[in-house]
Amino acid sequence: MATAPHNYSYSFKYIIMGDMGVGKSCLLHQFTEKKFVADCPHTIGVEFGARIIEVGGQKTKLQIWDTDVTRSTYNHLSSWLTDARNLTNPNTVIILIGNKADLEAQRGVTFEEAKQFAEENGLFLEASAKTGENVDNAFLEAAKKICQNIQDGSLDLNAAESGVQHKPSAPQGGRLTSEPQPQREGCGC
Ligand code: GTP
Repeated sequence: MATAPHNYSYSFKYIIMGDMGVGKSCLLHQFTEKKFVADCPHTIGVEFGARIIEVGGQKTKLQIWDTDVTRSTYNHLSSWLTDARNLTNPNTVIILIGNKADLEAQRGVTFEEAKQFAEENGLFLEASAKTGENVDNAFLEAAKKICQNIQDGSLDLNAAESGVQHKPSAPQGGRLTSEPQPQREGCGC
């Protein structure tokens, strides 16, 4: 059964950035609809999708924005990272997804390059929007990290730019879910 639209305690905002054709829209569709949409039209502007997952014992809505881009590979990664770091809150969680992992024979980035990137920049996963391999994990690992940042206080829930919203677990006026929620304030991760 589909989850009720307001049946969550937190919402986290995600932005997918990357070069044209790397599979951003396909990752969005695979994560939100669990299917590979092979012939996604080129994204004009932004596309939006959402899915409610459980992270740290709390139902959490991931709002995912898929962006349109004009840069065209791994070599552009450092400029994407610079943009992501300069244009967002310093505590923004960044995860690199090496998509199209199913195309092993056409691998353009060596394992060593990817490993080095991971050591220098934190979260990194190879995934495939086509087979679904690691797609859930990628979004979930980022959500867990956000959850940890909430818990250790490095992410201020009251800051408008945090990208995180917390809904009280006890519904006011019966507008939220009637499903029992854990009675703690932070993510339980
Ligand atoms: P723009 O909207 O143009 O920025 O592209 P995008 O990054 O959103 O890429 P999109 O999701 O449209 O995918 C581009 C192409 O790559 C399509 O032909 C997809 O079928 C293909 N593709 C996406 N993900 C995968 C994958 O994991 N494996 C393989 N083999 N092909 C993929």
